[in-house]
Amino acid sequence: MKTRVKYFGEVTSTNDVARERTYGHGDVVVAGRQTAGRGQRGNRWESEEGVNLTCSVVLAPEFLPVANQFLLSEAVALAVVDMLEGYGIMARVKWPNDIYVGGRKIAGILIENDIMGGQMSRSIAGIGLNVNQTEFDPSLPNPVSMRLAAGRDFDLTEVLDRLLGALAARYDALAVGGGDAIMRDYHRCLYRLGEPARYTLPDCSVLTGTIECVRPGGELVVRHDDGTVHEYLFKEIGYLD
Ligand code: BTN
Repeated sequence: MKTRVKYFGEVTSTNDVARERTYGHGDVVVAGRQTAGRGQRGNRWESEEGVNLTCSVVLAPEFLPVANQFLLSEAVALAVVDMLEGYGIMARVKWPNDIYVGGRKIAGILIENDIMGGQMSRSIAGIGLNVNQTEFDPSLPNPVSMRLAAGRDFDLTEVLDRLLGALAARYDALAVGGGDAIMRDYHRCLYRLGEPARYTLPDCSVLTGTIECVRPGGELVVRHDDGTVHEYLFKEIGYLD
C-alpha cells in the first residue's frame, strides 16, 4: 500500500475531510489543528496545535468480509504499537483500540467503515497521537505523550512517516490473509489480558473479572470472579481503573 499525504492547517475533523473529498485508498489527511476532532463514544478529541499527530487514512479493504472488520481495527492499533516500539516506547492496546503506555493513553483511534453489498467498501482510520505535548487538560483521565514517555522531543514528519510505514505493513499483511498473525499479535499486547481488574456495566454495577481474549468479531471475553464467562461488545463494558 502506498500512502499520499494531504496536509491541512485547520479542519473540523480529518475523518470528515477524508470522507467529504474524493479521496481514495492510501490518501492520508493530516491536520495541524482540528476544530471538532471526534473520539469514540461521542467524545471530542482535543489535541494541542502543531505538537501532535491528527490524521486519517483512507482504506479500501474490499477483501475483508464485514464479519472480520475488527481485524482492520486490530491492524491499525498494532501499527501504532509497532511505530512506538521502533522508538523504544513499549505500548499496549486497551480494547478495543486505545493505545496505552504505562497505564496512560498515548493515542486514540476512530475507524469509520462504509459497507456495500456485505463487503467493506471504504474505511477511514483516524488516529490521534500525542507526540510532543507536555501539558494536558486536567479533565482528561490519564493522558501521556511520546515526549513524556521517552523524555525527548520527536520530529512530527518522521513520526508520521514511520506510522504510515507501519500501517502499510500491517495492512498489506492483512490483505494477503495474515489475519491470524494480527489476532495473535493483538493478544500479545492486549492491556490487562489475564489480570484481574474491575469493570463497569451500563447499569452502573461493578464487576471484578479477568480478560480471557477478544473474539474475531471484536467481543471482549471476561471471566467474572464467580467463574462465569461473558462476552461484551463495545459500550457494554468499561474499565473502572
Ligand atoms: C478515541 O480515543 O476516542 C478516538 C480518538 C480519535 C482521534 C482522531 S484525531 C484524527 C481523527 N479525526 C478525528 O476527528 N478523530 C480522529
